[in-house]
Amino acid sequence: MKYQHDFPAIFANPQRHFFDNAATTQACQVAIDTKHSLDSQFRTNIARGVYQEAEKISEAYEEARQTIAELIGAKNNEIVFCRGTTDALNISARCIIENLSPEKGVLISDAEHHSNFLPWLELCKKHNIPLYRLPVNTDGAIDFAQLTNFDNNNIGIVAITHCSNVTGIISDIELVSKWCKKNQALLVLDGAQMMQHSIPNMRELGADVYCFSGHKAFATSGIGVLYAKEQLLESWQPVTWGGGMILKLPPVNNNPLLLQEEENLWAPAPQKFEAGSPPYEQAIILSKALKWLADLEQEPLKKHHQALFNKAYEIMNCYDFIDNIGNVKESRNPIFSFNIKSIHPHDAAQLFDSLGFCLRAGHHCAKPLLHSLGIDACLRMSLSCYNTLEELELFEHALQKIYQQAKSWQK
Ligand code: ALA
Repeated sequence: MKYQHDFPAIFANPQRHFFDNAATTQACQVAIDTKHSLDSQFRTNIARGVYQEAEKISEAYEEARQTIAELIGAKNNEIVFCRGTTDALNISARCIIENLSPEKGVLISDAEHHSNFLPWLELCKKHNIPLYRLPVNTDGAIDFAQLTNFDNNNIGIVAITHCSNVTGIISDIELVSKWCKKNQALLVLDGAQMMQHSIPNMRELGADVYCFSGHKAFATSGIGVLYAKEQLLESWQPVTWGGGMILKLPPVNNNPLLLQEEENLWAPAPQKFEAGSPPYEQAIILSKALKWLADLEQEPLKKHHQALFNKAYEIMNCYDFIDNIGNVKESRNPIFSFNIKSIHPHDAAQLFDSLGFCLRAGHHCAKPLLHSLGIDACLRMSLSCYNTLEELELFEHALQKIYQQAKSWQK
C-alpha cells in the first residue's frame, strides 16, 4: 500500500489492477498537484515575455531542466525537451545520420521497439547506409556475444534498448559501451522502459544519447527528454525551425530569399532543438515526478520491485499452459510477456479486463522481436511500484479461470 497512496487513480480504483505500465504509468500525486497549480495560475509562454509572470515560468522551465540534468548526471545543456522517446530517437537519428562518415554503418538489434527501429531503417535507406542487426537468443535477449562479428564492420552507431518493452530484459550496457569505445561508435539508448524502475546516471552508463518519456515515469504524456553529450548537441544541426532557437537572423533582402550557409544562425544547444513554444508545463511536471521518484528510499523500492518480480516469475513458471517469452530471472524489470495455450492473446486480454486486469496484447510495436521468436502476438503484464503481491494473487486466480474458460470453448 505504501506507494499506492501516491497515486490517486490507483487508490481510487481498488477493483481495477493496472498491469500495463510499460505502455504508460499512472500520474503520481506531485505530478497531479503541479499540473493543477500550473493550470490555476496565470498562463504565460516562456522565454518570450518580460513581465513578471512570464519570467517566473521561464525560470521554472530552466529549473526543470536543471533538476532532470542533476538527477541523471548530465549538464543542463545536455537536456533537450521533446515530445517523448519516439521524438527523441527520431531527432537523434536524423542528426547522427547527417554527421556520419560515408563508410560507416548503423547497428541495432532485433529486440528494438519500432521507435528505435523504423527511424534507422528509413534514414539508412534514404542515405544508402548499411543497417545491421544483432540477433536475439531464444529468450528474446540481445545476443551480445555476436558483437565481435561486427568488430571490423565500420559501425558508427549502436542504437539499442536499455530494457526491452516485451521481455523486460535489461541490456548489458557496460559491455556494449566498452565495445563502442573500442570501435569508435556512438551509443544511443532507448531508455523508455527504464526510468520508472530506476533513474540511470549518464556518466556511469557511458551512453552518448539517451531517450525517455514522461508518461512512462509517473508524469504526463507529450513530454520526453533527449539527453546527448554536449559536444554532440553542439555539432548537430536543428531538425525543426521556428521561434526561440535563433542566435541572430540577419536581414534577408535578396529575392529569392537565401541564407548564407556559413552564418551561425542558431542558438546554442539545447535551445536550437526546441523550436516553437516548448511543452514547458509538461517539462516542469516531469521534473517534479522524477524528483519524487529519486527522493523515495531506494532500497525498499528495489526490494518491492524484486518481490513483485519474484512472485510474477513464480506464477508464470507454475503452469504448463503458459508459454513464456523472455523467461530469464536476472537483469530484468518486472515485464512479463506470455501466451496462454488455446486462447488468442486479444481474447485473453478481454477476459482479463472483465476480471479487473489491464494487460496489453498484440505485437507491442516490436514486430522484429516477435518475428524472431516465431510468434505474431502475446499478452504482456508490466508491473510498477504501486502494484502489490495481493494483486498478483488475484491475477493467478484470473489466469486459472481464463484457461478453464478457454478449454471449455474447445469442447
Ligand atoms: N511503447 C509502449 C509499449 O510498449 C507503448 O506498450
